[in-house]
Amino acid sequence: MTDKNHVKIFDTTLRDGEQAPGFSMSTDAKLIVARALAALNVDIIEAGFAAASPGDAASVKTIAAEIDGPIICSLARANAGDIEAAARALDPARKKRIHTFIGTSPLHRDAKLKMSKGQIIDRIGEIVAFARTFVDDVEFSPEDAIRTERDYLLEAVRAAIGAGATTINIPDTVGYTTPEEITDLFRFLTANSPGHVTFSTHCHDDLGMAVANSLAAVRGGARQIECAINGIGERAGNCSLEEAVMALSVRRDFFGVSTQIETTMLYPASVALARVTHNPIPRNKAIVGRNAFAHEAGIHQHGVLADRRTYEIMEAESVGVPSNALVLGKHSGKHAVAARIKALGFDVSQRKIEDLFPDFKHLADTCREVTDADLVRLVTGNAKTDGRIGPWRMRKTELRVDFEEDEKPFARITMEHDNGDRRTVTHEGEGPIDAAFAAVCAITGVPGAISILDLHHVASEGVVRAEAVIDVEGESFAGKAQEVDIADAAVAAFVAAVNQAAAMRASGVKRVKVGAGA
Ligand code: KIV
Ligand code: ZN
Repeated sequence: MTDKNHVKIFDTTLRDGEQAPGFSMSTDAKLIVARALAALNVDIIEAGFAAASPGDAASVKTIAAEIDGPIICSLARANAGDIEAAARALDPARKKRIHTFIGTSPLHRDAKLKMSKGQIIDRIGEIVAFARTFVDDVEFSPEDAIRTERDYLLEAVRAAIGAGATTINIPDTVGYTTPEEITDLFRFLTANSPGHVTFSTHCHDDLGMAVANSLAAVRGGARQIECAINGIGERAGNCSLEEAVMALSVRRDFFGVSTQIETTMLYPASVALARVTHNPIPRNKAIVGRNAFAHEAGIHQHGVLADRRTYEIMEAESVGVPSNALVLGKHSGKHAVAARIKALGFDVSQRKIEDLFPDFKHLADTCREVTDADLVRLVTGNAKTDGRIGPWRMRKTELRVDFEEDEKPFARITMEHDNGDRRTVTHEGEGPIDAAFAAVCAITGVPGAISILDLHHVASEGVVRAEAVIDVEGESFAGKAQEVDIADAAVAAFVAAVNQAAAMRASGVKRVKVGAGA
């Protein structure tokens, strides 16, 4: 017996998502994402479009063979060759689905397909019946359903159901609908169709309403949401999986339905996708962005420290984000500064907090975030008034980027210590920036290993912003820099992080416990 309040999550990250420019993935990359989707416990993984290319077919086949749990699905146009390719690729899957589609709107019929209404209805019946000869689970999508005449859309849906489709997906192919409109459409379609099929929604985000429209479709009777991690997909993207799932979970009182998603795996899945596609998660992205659980404003920080529910409707841990982060910056108040200092293992008096607070504000004015290491410097009394933390200054950076085949890239770096000691070191590396990092470590004596290097080109300002996180004997230090040149920015951020480690060593302070990351 199917639960009428269960909403299936059909993930199309690897098909519609992968179709978007900048998001194409190798089979290995797709497998990493597919494993993350299985850990999320999605109901269906649309693993690709087998007929699109031999590479796509191979990816679908690999995922079909390797992934256990979710139903594995391949997309197929409404022709026999596509259906056969999908069936072949899905062969190793324990649970499989073929998803076939054809355009039904006037624009698709006349401009693209050059087929009459009747010809399309006949094709739907034939192709769904043909797909059913390979699998029991067939999904049909009337492409551009939202711009299709209602009565004709119903005729297409009935033809598909009559031929054996088990899921009817109603795509808003061009992201055109509105919540009220799509609720009404689903009410109409479900009221006029047999009850044994699942109605599904597939919304694009061209007007920024994909999630709202998908949720509205659920209100109208949809029991499957097609969505993608981080909302990736054609043009502006698809409905974001993590947003739709958390909306249904947090507002269960309103929607009255549930999914089977393991929500603590949302953040790991989002990070896995960002890594393999080299597309960072936007900082302000709902649910999984770095700012989603970060609070900088003093009033908010005070409230969250008193009771996190004052400014949070869900817990960071519930979506797999390690902990809520109070980001210390110029808007932070004394409560947050004191709480972080305590979390860093310092037992300081209120008086000490009052004393260091003006220095904290000054430092916060010169950089975007005050890190844990910055705070330690303030507590131990060594912060520089120019905002620099630590004893080393860059004096010269020379990178050899043009080298012969038998030569290794190298960097020559000159740095100066506050005590007047000036040193120059030349070092080889895998690349010139790697060589520069090695030279900085040799000069400063800090054995820093880079763990994160984020480079962001701000075209409007003509600068590159860099953030480096280094690991020094098991402790993390972060550094930031802004330069015109990308290599200079990377090296300067690395130096900022190394400087913090050097300052910490010089102060003799040992952190007892590191609090939530800034
Ligand atoms: O957006 C769309 O119409 C699609 C279909 C293939 C379902 O992605
Ligand atoms: Zn789509």
